[in-house]
This record gives sequence, C-alpha cells and structure tokens, in this order.
Amino acid sequence: MSSELLSLTGVTAGYVADIDVLRNVSLAIEKGRITGLIGLNGAGKSTLMKAICGFVRPHAGRIEYDGEDITGIAPHTLIDRGIWYIPQESSLFPYMSVGDNLRLPLERLLKSGDREREARLREALVRFPALSERLRTPAGNLSGGQQKMVELAKAWVVRPRLCLVDEPSVGLAPIVAAEVYRFIELFASEGMTILLVDHNVRRVVKMSEYVYVLSLGEIAARGRRQDFEGDLHAQVRAWLGVNF
Ligand SMILES: Nc1ncnc2c1ncn2[C@@H]1O[C@H](COP(=O)(O)OP(=O)(O)OP(=O)(O)O)[C@@H](O)[C@H]1O
Ligand SMILES: [Mg+2]
Repeated sequence: MSSELLSLTGVTAGYVADIDVLRNVSLAIEKGRITGLIGLNGAGKSTLMKAICGFVRPHAGRIEYDGEDITGIAPHTLIDRGIWYIPQESSLFPYMSVGDNLRLPLERLLKSGDREREARLREALVRFPALSERLRTPAGNLSGGQQKMVELAKAWVVRPRLCLVDEPSVGLAPIVAAEVYRFIELFASEGMTILLVDHNVRRVVKMSEYVYVLSLGEIAARGRRQDFEGDLHAQVRAWLGVNF
C-alpha cells in the first residue's frame, strides 16, 4: 500500500493563462509526516498550496489525493475530503467571535447537529485552553499570536487528514512562534499529515521528514532531513542561487 497521501506530477500553474508561476512541479507527501517546502519570496510556495486546494487551477499536470485525481477540485469540497489550508494571511472573520469562527467549519462538516459541534469545540479547548476565556471576543480584537492560535484551533476542530500550513510564524515574536511550531508537531504526532511552509528554513528542516526547495516555480532540490542538516546555509544558498 502506498504511503503517499498526496502527489503532484508535472504541475504547471499560474494566475493567468500565459504566465506559469509553477513549472513542472512533482512532489509527494507521505502520510502522517511533516513535509517541508522552502524557497525565496515569490518562489511559488503559496501558489503550490493554492493549486492543491483548487484556488489556482493547474494548466497541466495531475494532483492525486488518497489515490483520487483532485486536479482543479472545487475549493469548497476540500473540507469534506479532509484537506485543510491555514493560509499565510488570516482566514478569520474579525467581527465574529472566536467561538463562532471555530464553529463555522463544523457547520459544513458535522451536519448532525449542535451537540456534536459543541462537543468538538470543547475538545479543542482542552488543547487550546487560553482560548476558553476569549470565546465571545471578536477574533479581530486578538493579538496576531492569539489569532494564529485560533487558526490552529480551527484546524484542530476540523481534524483534517492533510493540513497545509503556510508561513505560520510570520510576524510573531519568537516565543509565540515556538508555541505555534509546538502545536504543528503535536498535530503531526496525532497522525495529521502536514505540508509546512515557513521562512525559518532551519526550523522547517528540523521539523520535516522530507524537504523540497522551490526556486522560481521549480523544484530545485529535495531530500530527507538528514540531507539538509549540517552546513545548511551553504547548501540552501547553493540551491536557491543566492547569498544570505
Ligand atoms: N493572486 C495573484 N495574481 C497574480 N499573481 C500572483 C498572485 N499571487 C501571487 N502571484 C505571483 O505568483 C508568484 C509566486 O507567488 P507566491 O505567493 O506563490 O510566492 P511565495 O513563495 O509564497 O512567496 P512568499 O514567501 O512571499 O509568501 C509571484 O510572482 C507573485 O507575484
Ligand atoms: Mg507565500
């Protein structure tokens, strides 16, 4: 049996017909693991996640999830299939309470009723106790770090099989970022499959079993964590073709 949950084969995609942001991208994401994706600003990391979710329709290539072709899938059906996307920018409704933001994805997922939804919410609050006292607070009134915790709790409420996490630490103080990474590791330890993008290259390598490097829309390098450890900066510099 294949251990791949998701695979991309020769995916070329972009926002307009003639400009390809992703070019012939092939990669595989193994079940129950963290896979890392690193690359410079504008390399196409978020576009790759959007292509998986159907927000960007591939011009060519194939995306398979759990043995099914999901190329160009309608984004609103993702949640039914167990794919969840934590975008780089906020996905919260700022004037809605934290509790209602957390309940929202369950409206679609658990049509069975309020009791099951509230039970799921309570379970999430065991993992995210700091949110308990903020359930009635408008999400937009929270700090950036607290909002990111709500995003993570929302993913936890949904319990996806595959979670795409795009730049979860951007703009956060190191201590808050460390907490965010801890939750992502917790999700993975509970069996969630994760694709992680983060500008903290060292952190991505440390957390991921397998890492892909995206450069100008193409996979420039790939390897297991061990292949990336050691003289990381020199390697990454070479792969990305830059000095930093
Ligand atoms: N909605 C859009 N419409 C048109 N072009 C876009 C759109 N979003 C991104 N792009 C372009 O696609 C390319 C890749 O952008 P993308 O956001 O995927 O990069 P990224 O690797 O996620 O960068 P960052 O590290 O800054 O988040 C860039 O040239 C960007 O300008
Ligand atoms: Mg991005």
